[in-house]
Amino acid sequence: PSFFLQSPSLTLLKVIVLGDSGVGKTSLMNQYVHKKFSQHYKATIGADFMTKELQIDDKLVTLQIWDTAGQERFHSLGVSFYRGADCCILVYDVNVYKTFETLQNWHEEFLEQVDPTHPETFPFVLLGNKVDIDGGNSRVVSEKTARDWCVSKGNIPYFEISAKEDYNVEDAFLCVAKTALANE
Ligand code: GTP
Ligand code: MG
Repeated sequence: PSFFLQSPSLTLLKVIVLGDSGVGKTSLMNQYVHKKFSQHYKATIGADFMTKELQIDDKLVTLQIWDTAGQERFHSLGVSFYRGADCCILVYDVNVYKTFETLQNWHEEFLEQVDPTHPETFPFVLLGNKVDIDGGNSRVVSEKTARDWCVSKGNIPYFEISAKEDYNVEDAFLCVAKTALANE
């Protein structure tokens, strides 16, 4: 119907989730979209998306969230889906230092592939996942280290989350949506 077509407030935002294998990208999306968590690990192959609608002020926003493969051998399959992204979510595991170090590569590769008009202001959001493990006693990347990296990349917003316990997941995606919308 025409009222639908004329609606000025429907916005589709494309979001890409990147990070090493096992950091919890798929788990995070399942928690946010389906309110479900599984201990069972099943590697993502290629890329797939889930959608979630939310309201921001007077705007109805549809987040199209693209899950990608962290495993090197499946990685190239996902790259072609980066194009047209409005925001990129980088995820690492606060308990595994290597997953923090490789953020640099994910960040660089994403910008190379998408080639945005203003790479210095392209919206990223960083998520440090699995803060639930061992009550935080087994973490190897401090919040300060992560925040310093975010500052060095032009003030990327940062959240510490647990996909397992649904800690900060909603807030993180709200920030993603607002950041993407502001950049539209
Ligand atoms: P790839 O698809 O290979 O790139 O991995 P991924 O980043 O999608 O990781 P996935 O979501 O499959 O999670 C990997 C493992 O970590 C699974 O066994 C999850 O159950 C577990 N996991 C994910 N998030 C959390 C979390 O917040 N806390 C804990 N304790 N475990 C988690
Ligand atoms: Mg996955």
